Amino acid sequence: MKELNRFEIAKMIALAAEARERAYVEYSHFRVGACLKAQSGAYYLGCNIENASYTPTVCAERTAMFKAVYEGERKFEAIAIISDSANYTAPCGVCRQVLSEFCEADMPVILANKEGEYKLVSLGELLPLAFTKEDME
Ligand code: THU
Repeated sequence: MKELNRFEIAKMIALAAEARERAYVEYSHFRVGACLKAQSGAYYLGCNIENASYTPTVCAERTAMFKAVYEGERKFEAIAIISDSANYTAPCGVCRQVLSEFCEADMPVILANKEGEYKLVSLGELLPLAFTKEDME
């Protein structure tokens, strides 16, 4: 896994917690915030945004990623995710696939709990044998 120092980790968790404040969670009442750091050094924040029709709901991780890609970013250093749970919140399967479109398998994923404690995993650990554009060559 790529190196990430603890000051950077703490900063990203704090930014993800700020993003969590923006969550629109009319149905689950489960707030999630994400902070995605691009190789440009910019941070992109995202929250989950739910919908009365449920399935159009978008997770915090995808909100952050789509904002970043729209802004022209294509390479990323790390992502931090935090919710209101005492458990570490890990990205859902769809978000793992979306992350793997733009992020390397050795990118650190910071899974935080509501106390701000965290666990580090790589994207490759979360989505082994990811299907990517290389698989279509
Ligand atoms: N959710 C996220 O935003 N990210 C995750 O990693 C897990 C799930 C959201 C989707 C939905 O709004 C709520 O959490 C409950 O599933």
